[in-house]
Amino acid sequence: MEIIKKIELMQELSDKWRRDGHIISCVPTMGFLHQGHVELLRVGRDKGDRLIMTIFVNPTQFGPHEDYERYPRDTEGDLDKARSAGVDAVFMPTVEEMYPDGFQSAVTVNTITQYLCGKSRPGHFAGVTIVVAKLFNITKPHLAIFGEKDYQQLAVIRQMVRDLNMDIDIIGVPTVREQDGLAMSSRNKYLSPEERLSALSLKKGLDLAKAMIKDGEKDSATIKTAVRELILAHPFTEIDYVTICDPEKLTDIEHLDGPSLLALAVKVGKARLIDNIIL
Ligand code: PAJ
Repeated sequence: MEIIKKIELMQELSDKWRRDGHIISCVPTMGFLHQGHVELLRVGRDKGDRLIMTIFVNPTQFGPHEDYERYPRDTEGDLDKARSAGVDAVFMPTVEEMYPDGFQSAVTVNTITQYLCGKSRPGHFAGVTIVVAKLFNITKPHLAIFGEKDYQQLAVIRQMVRDLNMDIDIIGVPTVREQDGLAMSSRNKYLSPEERLSALSLKKGLDLAKAMIKDGEKDSATIKTAVRELILAHPFTEIDYVTICDPEKLTDIEHLDGPSLLALAVKVGKARLIDNIIL
């Protein structure tokens, strides 16, 4: 497995792989890998014949009061997991390599970045789009794999790729969960044992909504209220949003007639957790 820190070297290797007729998959990550990331690697391995994983804790997608400084890191553990998953190259640049002095460009996706997490994390998706666009230009993949856990991120990246005619297939992978249902996340590390119990309220909220709909409930507001109450009945929880929206446009839905997305963001102690389900 190659470990590459320089942009130019990564581009040279990808160019060579392309010249040799290989299909390149890319899995962008911020490291501290868990089984969710490993599943993306498995899909990438399956769909391509050269697999690149990137590890870069991207400062531009964190707000000034967010967890950039304390975001968990474990490079050695990550490299071991990458090796076991059959990764051919890990691209792990420094911040200076990605954002040298004088850097001044942006990639803006306008509308769908305004809803859900975009509301409470202004600038977050601008950070995601600029770094993912750069990572695509550096790793030159045919396919890129992203998790549905970060549903809005996946939607924003699909929009960017479509709007800018990037010749890359974006593949979404269903959320990987712990045995008890908690969506895997690098940020679960912040949870104390008591908070870990409360964190289960997100998945319970999704299940409750599913059950209500099965029983014939079609009113968004009624479902959202029930989900909020269930979550708030758990200690240490603070709701950022509980939203039922159109799965593509991400605009609010009042009456459930077709497919819709239930998306949650909840602070549990210091950890801001998200989860979602298509209803
Ligand atoms: P990170 O949070 O490390 O996630 C990397 C990828 O793993 C994302 O596509 C995310 O959706 C996916 N993922 C995380 N938890 C998952 C789970 N439980 N099941 C399935 N997939 C899961 O998302 C980022 O990094 C960054 O924003 C990035 C795209 C790398 C840009 O900096």
